[in-house]
Amino acid sequence: MTNSVPPSSSGSSSTTGRSLAGKRILLIVGGGIAAYKALDLVRRLRERGARVRVVMTAAARQFVTELSFVSLSGERVFDDLFSPTDEGAMGHIELSRDADLLVVAPATAHLLARMARGFADDLATTLLLATDKRVLVAPAMNVRMWLHPATQRNVAALHADGVYFVGPAAGDMACGEFGPGRMSEPLDIVAAIETALQGDTRLPLPAGLHGRTPAPARSLAGRHVIVTSGPTHESIDPVRYLANRSSGKQGHAIAAAAAAAGARVTLIAGPVALADPPGVEVRHVETARDMLEACEAALPADIFVSAAAVADWRVDVSASKVKKQPSGAPPTLVLRENPDIVARIGARKEGRPTLVVGFAAETNDLIANARAKLERKRCDLMVANDVSVDSGVLGGEANEVHLVSARGVETWPRQDKSKVAAMLIERLAEQLRRRQGAAGEPPIAEERQ
Ligand SMILES: Cc1cc2nc3c(=O)[nH]c(=O)nc-3n(C[C@H](O)[C@H](O)[C@H](O)COP(=O)(O)O)c2cc1C
Repeated sequence: MTNSVPPSSSGSSSTTGRSLAGKRILLIVGGGIAAYKALDLVRRLRERGARVRVVMTAAARQFVTELSFVSLSGERVFDDLFSPTDEGAMGHIELSRDADLLVVAPATAHLLARMARGFADDLATTLLLATDKRVLVAPAMNVRMWLHPATQRNVAALHADGVYFVGPAAGDMACGEFGPGRMSEPLDIVAAIETALQGDTRLPLPAGLHGRTPAPARSLAGRHVIVTSGPTHESIDPVRYLANRSSGKQGHAIAAAAAAAGARVTLIAGPVALADPPGVEVRHVETARDMLEACEAALPADIFVSAAAVADWRVDVSASKVKKQPSGAPPTLVLRENPDIVARIGARKEGRPTLVVGFAAETNDLIANARAKLERKRCDLMVANDVSVDSGVLGGEANEVHLVSARGVETWPRQDKSKVAAMLIERLAEQLRRRQGAAGEPPIAEERQ
């Protein structure tokens, strides 16, 4: 594949200098709620020295004003295919000929469909059809629209045609749902533009689009995947609890990616502020012991992914609210060790899932700790990530993971959690196929470190 932006470049553009000096970007704005982010994108591109011409679709005008784009780009905005003056001066062919790169942001489901089918029913689609320049697309839509087979077909077709993609990202959406579909942040799009302009770049599949064939999203059809996600809460008394900073974003993204790959997914979620991913059966639990019970009840499964940050300890719970003492003496909290869920699942003699995947969230000695956990918890794979405060992983949108297996360590670049999820699910699907088909077992993690 030669038409996707490498994961490393989906991290924010670190360059605030004139990295795009002299570059000419034609920005096509579709009619989605994320159109307001396109205003910031213009500003970021101008800051870096690019010339930006904006084309708005008719629907885009419902979300943002032409005047905003004129003010930020310093250029007039184009939108009329049949304008006699424009066709005389800067016709639709000239407009794309004059650009180094065409960027579609936000790319709505409808605009992607029109592009995939080769429609030319307005200025935006006509110049996308008439161009021989590279096209970079930043999809933005509701998660169900993104996961719909029609959109996935259109994206696969555009990808096969050589269109470049950045995102979409996973996260909370304006519509109140969670999952892939949110437009990448302007700085991530700038980074993708910088990469796309470099010429021959190797790009992965668009986020959320899995596999290597035209029907890629079914690599786990017929499989059952259990995913745990989020923190657990361990009560101290009726009003207080012990918790941790896990947001559940990575675990929920893995569940959504497994569902998108055709699996039946059971997501066992601790208390999180996230909507349930669509197409996933969700069991909401609070404590580590509830989570273990729900996991065991959900078996059998082909794959078990333990992405939850399960509390190591619980407290002997007080039946009534713990009160301050007149003496000022602090209360004594007696901690007891919680069951180790992934170790229990990994050690099962009967009904052990074919692949048991743990997460090692560490603040130091990441790989050494992950290797020790891999062995102790009898996992097939440990996904290690640095969760120190500086990493921004806990609660953040991006993750940098190391896949640690008995055969080696593989480090993936920092990327959006939805991309980590899609790549992990694809890797697990491949491993499952091999385990059940081939005699020799290639490693889950390739030795690269
Ligand atoms: C409030 C509102 C928000 C919308 N947001 C999106 C969106 O984020 N993504 C999307 O694909 N369509 C969205 N739509 C639907 C599009 O506006 C509609 O499909 C339109 O025809 C797209 O036009 P385009 O092809 O010019 O982008 C939204 C519609 C409304 C009313």
